[in-house]
Amino acid sequence: MKKDKAFIFDLDGVIVDTAKYHFLAWRNLANSLGFEFTEAHNELLKGVSRVRSLEILLEIGKVALTEDQKQSLLIKKNEEYLSYVNKMTADEILPGISKLLDYLDVNNIKYALGSASKNAPLILEKVGLLNRFSAIVDGNDVSKAKPDSEVFLIGAQKLQMKPENCIVVEDAIAGIEAANAANMVSIGIGDAELLKKATYILKDTTGFTNDFLKNLIN
Ligand code: BG6
Ligand code: MG
Repeated sequence: MKKDKAFIFDLDGVIVDTAKYHFLAWRNLANSLGFEFTEAHNELLKGVSRVRSLEILLEIGKVALTEDQKQSLLIKKNEEYLSYVNKMTADEILPGISKLLDYLDVNNIKYALGSASKNAPLILEKVGLLNRFSAIVDGNDVSKAKPDSEVFLIGAQKLQMKPENCIVVEDAIAGIEAANAANMVSIGIGDAELLKKATYILKDTTGFTNDFLKNLIN
């Protein structure tokens, strides 16, 4: 039984592709404020908290709002986002992830979630993965957002693992930086140039071959 390594997974962009739903909701919000919001703009919001995402969006549109107005836009954005999330099913789990979790289960390797999203438990429930994680750390549990290491350090604590024995899977630069700052092994999913600070880089979630995993864990 292996107990010397554990995984901590980011959610959005690693377990499921929810960026497309964030995009729809942010774009509608921008349009209602009278400016365009593109897919390239949406890239800037990857791994970023909801509040900070709104700030970035308002900077793009050069719109200044009161705190009350911002609060009501955050609620509106999240309501639209949740209308998409509520329709999610297990079909939206990214390729290779279910097989990876099965592999970890079979090998008695524990795994936690480490996400910036306050909607993480709902999303996991929708795709049928809520009960598979040994621990869940989400946007409700942290005071400092990625690239701060807090989310992953809490994850390690909940798994009762030393940080250096934790392996983080992330698709955002801020997430890789957070994992590195926590002294964990980081696996970047996506563009090699963008994620060059990661310990390992995989083009997409199908890259977790048995050979790669054996090498990583042993
Ligand atoms: C991150 C996403 O995982 O969660 C960001 O990459 C998102 O795009 C953030 O803004 C917060 O999500 P939520 O669900 O709390 O609005
Ligand atoms: Mg992500």
